[in-house]
Amino acid sequence: MGDARLLQRADELRAFDTAELHALLADMRDTMHALNGVGLAAPQIGVSLRVIIFEVSRNPRYPEAESVPQTVLINPVLTPLSDAMEDGWEGCLSVPGMRGLVPRYTQLRYQGHDQYGAIIDRTVSGFHARVVQHECDHLDGILYPMRIRDLRNFGFNEAMSPGEEVQDE
Ligand code: NI
Repeated sequence: MGDARLLQRADELRAFDTAELHALLADMRDTMHALNGVGLAAPQIGVSLRVIIFEVSRNPRYPEAESVPQTVLINPVLTPLSDAMEDGWEGCLSVPGMRGLVPRYTQLRYQGHDQYGAIIDRTVSGFHARVVQHECDHLDGILYPMRIRDLRNFGFNEAMSPGEEVQDE
């Protein structure tokens, strides 16, 4: 947070299945896994392209969170399916050590392409929908603290919930 590249609108990707794209995705996966994140957007590693990845495996610590298949989503378009929103805690690899309570649409459709150019079109809800909204915000220069409605619900992990593991996005 504070790097001007995180505040820009990222560019559309023009060419799929290129060596450059596969190298970018490998770098993004390495970064996400090394930092134990559930999602990552290309601008977070300094590449201003509309490319995100996310993946949520089943975790016994969070039995209510559904798993999300490993997904590469390029040039995404989000369409909320209702006005309903819900608050949930989020962290971000670009805002390390902190968390905040963020409203997100509960149900949405997302469309885009994978790394080979195949169409992705899914209707999702809950945590899956939250992660996608968080990552797509990165493509428009928005960091989650900008969406917190009450800044009393923003702070350091250790102060707000000592000992609890938080997965960043
Ligand atoms: Ni993030």
